[in-house]
Amino acid sequence: MANQKATNVTWHDGEISREDRGNILRQRGATIWFTGLSGSGKSTIAVALEHALYQIGKLSYRLDGDNVRLGINKNLGFSEADRKENIRRIGEVAKLMGDAGVIALSSFISPYKGDRDEVRELHKQAGLDFIEVFVDCSLAVAEERDPKGLYKKARAGEIKNFTGIDDPYESPVHPEIHLHTDQMTVEQEVQFVLDHLEENGLILRQHFTRADDYIEAGATS
Ligand code: ADX
Repeated sequence: MANQKATNVTWHDGEISREDRGNILRQRGATIWFTGLSGSGKSTIAVALEHALYQIGKLSYRLDGDNVRLGINKNLGFSEADRKENIRRIGEVAKLMGDAGVIALSSFISPYKGDRDEVRELHKQAGLDFIEVFVDCSLAVAEERDPKGLYKKARAGEIKNFTGIDDPYESPVHPEIHLHTDQMTVEQEVQFVLDHLEENGLILRQHFTRADDYIEAGATS
């Protein structure tokens, strides 16, 4: 955990609670945390899941490694310390989103188990669900896919500290969800995650074409 630097600061509660906000959205905020090698499929699954959630009237928001590194984390690189800070900030942003009632879909390599565990603990302390999804794909397959041509560059020594090549990836030990993306289609993966969310009371399975139908059906979970 990062140390508290500012002194004489205290948390200030408002008059509207997390539950009040959730009642407007008719959902409960949570964080779905995709972790895995570059090219494993994290962002692809998050995009498809966002679409599926939208179709059943659930508001989610994607926090994506590359996107976030172009904005809030543009001052961070890929050293161990910078990756740690990258994940810490995103963990805090995801927590704020969950508190606002939104389902955060976070896609970061997040290679260090300790960093992911800190985000899990942050959510636990805040009473928010944290669902770790291991987007598992062998290095050989990720390298074969190489959607951005980065493995090729890393092998040629043009990129240093590249995860899986000359930087480590620590696999989750007990993720809530384990997806083998070299053996499943994106549709199957999305369904697998949706099933988990439903089994844990985060969403309803029934599909609605209009948000109004969904609300009329009394969906609040
Ligand atoms: S993390 O390790 O800090 O979680 P993050 O998910 O934000 O990484 O960013 C990974 C993305 O940055 C990769 O998908 C890739 O496009 C790009 N990238 C550029 N350099 C590296 C590197 N050295 N290691 C891993 N990814 C890199």
